[in-house]
Amino acid sequence: DLCSSSKGAVEMEPDAPVYVGKEDDIKKSQRITTKVNDREVVVFYHEGKFYAMDARCYHAGGPLRLGEIEDINGQPCIICPWHKYKITLETGEGLYQAINPMEPSPTPRWRSKGVKQRIHKVTIDNGNVYVSPPDLSVSLASDYYADKCKNNSDFTM
Ligand code: FES
Repeated sequence: DLCSSSKGAVEMEPDAPVYVGKEDDIKKSQRITTKVNDREVVVFYHEGKFYAMDARCYHAGGPLRLGEIEDINGQPCIICPWHKYKITLETGEGLYQAINPMEPSPTPRWRSKGVKQRIHKVTIDNGNVYVSPPDLSVSLASDYYADKCKNNSDFTM
């Protein structure tokens, strides 16, 4: 029956946090790419905090591990090396600059397109860094490239 197959076997919970590296090592290298349940994830250490997100940019699959981190309106953002899209490390929001031509002296302002890049929860335990597998019940723009790369090891940058 359905339940007997798992009898006696010790299985990892599919949503259990996945070990991705030593806290000290990631602090030193500032970023690593890894796989979390077959999904390519980039982990950043930036100004005292760890962040994790899908490794391929939601726009066209650019390698976020090669991007620069910049502060935009007080939010740390990764700048995709391909077309310079800006993504907040904390929430995965895509930021863009908008101008209101109706203003007397129009100045560009940063606005959010909403959450585009899937971010992943990072936990530190005893000097070890873990990333939790995502809740895929809501789909996000970056899922397209995450899935594409999962099934295609030739999709290299
Ligand atoms: Fe990242 Fe285009 S692929 S900005």
